[in-house]
Amino acid sequence: MILDESTSAQSSVDYLSKARSLLAAMTLEEKALLLSGDGWWHTHSIDRLQIPAISVSDGPHGLRKVEGGGLPISVPATCFPTASALACSWNTELIRQVGVALAEECQAHNVQILLGPGVNMKRSPLCGRNFEYFSEDPVLAGKMAAAYIQGMQSQGVGTSLKHYAANNQEFERMVTSSNLDERTLHETYLLAFEIAVKEAQPWSVMAAYNPINHLYAAENSLLLRDILRTQWGFEGFVVSDWGAVHDGVTGVNAGLSLEMPGSGDYLRNKIIEAVRTGRLSPAKLDEAIVPLLAVILKAKDHKRSGVAFDAGNHDGLARRAAGESLVLVKNTDGLLPLDFRRIKTIALIGTFAKTPRYQGAGSSQVNPTRISTAYDELMKLVGKDAVIQYAAGYTEDGATTNELINEALQLVKAAEVAIVFVGLPGSYESEGFDRSSLDLPAGHNQLIEAMSTVQPNLAVVLINGSAITMPWAEKVRAILEAWLGGQAGGGAIADVLTGRVNPSGKLAETFPARLEDTPAYPDFPSRSKEANYGEGIFIGYRYSDARKIAPLFPFGFGLSYTTFAYSGLRVGATSVKETEPVTVEVKVKNTGPVAGQEVVQLYVREQHPKVVRPEKELKAFTKVALQAGEERTVSFRLTRRDFAYYDTFRHDWVINPGKFEILVGSSSRDLPLRETITLEVTQQDCAPLSRYSLLKDFEKHPKGKAFYPQLAEAFGLGKPDEADMAGRAFLDDMPVYKVCAFSEGKFTEQMLNEILKQVQ
Ligand code: BGC
Repeated sequence: MILDESTSAQSSVDYLSKARSLLAAMTLEEKALLLSGDGWWHTHSIDRLQIPAISVSDGPHGLRKVEGGGLPISVPATCFPTASALACSWNTELIRQVGVALAEECQAHNVQILLGPGVNMKRSPLCGRNFEYFSEDPVLAGKMAAAYIQGMQSQGVGTSLKHYAANNQEFERMVTSSNLDERTLHETYLLAFEIAVKEAQPWSVMAAYNPINHLYAAENSLLLRDILRTQWGFEGFVVSDWGAVHDGVTGVNAGLSLEMPGSGDYLRNKIIEAVRTGRLSPAKLDEAIVPLLAVILKAKDHKRSGVAFDAGNHDGLARRAAGESLVLVKNTDGLLPLDFRRIKTIALIGTFAKTPRYQGAGSSQVNPTRISTAYDELMKLVGKDAVIQYAAGYTEDGATTNELINEALQLVKAAEVAIVFVGLPGSYESEGFDRSSLDLPAGHNQLIEAMSTVQPNLAVVLINGSAITMPWAEKVRAILEAWLGGQAGGGAIADVLTGRVNPSGKLAETFPARLEDTPAYPDFPSRSKEANYGEGIFIGYRYSDARKIAPLFPFGFGLSYTTFAYSGLRVGATSVKETEPVTVEVKVKNTGPVAGQEVVQLYVREQHPKVVRPEKELKAFTKVALQAGEERTVSFRLTRRDFAYYDTFRHDWVINPGKFEILVGSSSRDLPLRETITLEVTQQDCAPLSRYSLLKDFEKHPKGKAFYPQLAEAFGLGKPDEADMAGRAFLDDMPVYKVCAFSEGKFTEQMLNEILKQVQ
């Protein structure tokens, strides 16, 4: 089910009333003071009213508490895998536990809000900040974010869901307008935010830098008030991204509560003046203050002193999280896990094995409590079972030389198995700029090609924050996508290579075969300050499905050291009223030799949609642990929204009656089970009729169809069998108000208005 509103925390209700009472005692100056930060990381305190300052710090995959402004070194904190890795675990319970651990570290460091998670969609794999985002699919991203928020907030520490909204490129991110239609906005770019807000009520939402359809996110009342608060019921406050406010008064008018970083007296004076001149009404000012004040009061109550966290435990959790996030995408003839009964010599190649890249650069960069390298951890786990010999293969910036290649090849030739670590150096992907290509550094590709000519037993371990191309994929036996796995990522890689952990991650993003196969190609990043989302709702697998493009590795795909079989798909009923939930059950069996976990994925497809729809869309998933030979039944519950699309006439989610397929399986391209259900729509979901409706719209409308013959006749349309097809099509497609002109005035405006009244 994409939306489970029953889980939403309602605890802020009391704080909202408390905030309202306190508000009555505040002066205009005090209110204005609260609306912008005190420096980079605090809100203002008002001692007279015992309103404390609260402290916010970056995340999302670890605490980055800095004392000054900008990006200096922060306090040591556990660096968990980044979001692009975590999402591949598809394990909401695990993400919740990471949230709990993050909150403990925040409590220990007196931080009340961690600035994350980020749920922006991966419109293009080139976005430099994709490592900080979960997925190309809004349901997966929304569910991950909800679990993260619930975990953190269960410990009394707030979150800031970011970057709201349609913040999908880094190049000129402060000014490039994301231009998209209403349906694309709701179905693709807002849905993850909607799920997280409705299911987990983050304490705050961060308004993005970019304009949306030319209106800055932090000043956009459609986004901040109408959608976030009115439609979704958001109770927290909106904070600007750091530097995203252009006109603070417009921001507050639109629903912004906190400008960050603080601007000294600058915004305060403007707010005071705006209230005095009537540009900002006292009511709007209060509307902005109340949710912020409510969170400040809540944070004050939930602050715990003397909290210390167990860095060792958290490192263990980080290793487990990284282990579940690794995705094995190729493993011909079971090269992995390494079988030490047969393998006695291993060549370990690649600087990343010893000097790992484990997180991305920018505001999310955590100062880890410790770092494990794959080299050290493999040495420990392999022990005396085999001899491991290491060569760098390339330099830290990704270049290679004949000398480095030859040194590596000596070891690779002599060993029974070679493992090469390659990926994207820090200079290739970062907050603040986008990637210019999907390729690995040329030196890395060269090294793999050279190794593949001398060693058939070659495994590639990838370290990168977003999808890459693999021109050598056919020439190697195994490929393990290890992402930016956090401080314990090296240990997790060693766990999977040696079979201590059975890989269970599935790709949370499509790996295209080439850049030309991506939805925003060739205009990404847009360099004209106008990012036109021409591909609409078709991003990620929705795009490859629609264009019938075979990706290198599809969304949802990942191998295990065991195998799973699906059977027994059952739906509660084959004909269902739209208001009733649809229950789905499926059996999954571990048919291989070892215990493992499988991510069961459920997609929905409308058979004959009236509007263009993706071929299928992910609506539910679950991760199930199975012993060898064990079988379990997993169940899902689908509701109305799982079948609906966003209708721009009604500005709402709509279902058309008809047949829908429920597809279940192990990846977006491997869905062996399928059942069809018929949805009966009780309230006929038809666009309301107006004078601009087409003649044929009347024929289909429950109330309008009674008037169709009369209107058709007045248009001069004969009986259906007498009409020629072109003539009929011509008149059927006429806006109905033209009936007056076509009937040469015999059908009057008054008669038309009478009909329009009756069909409402
Ligand atoms: C980033 C945010 C971050 C903020 C504070 C901004 O540049 O976009 O994600 O939370 O800085 O460091």
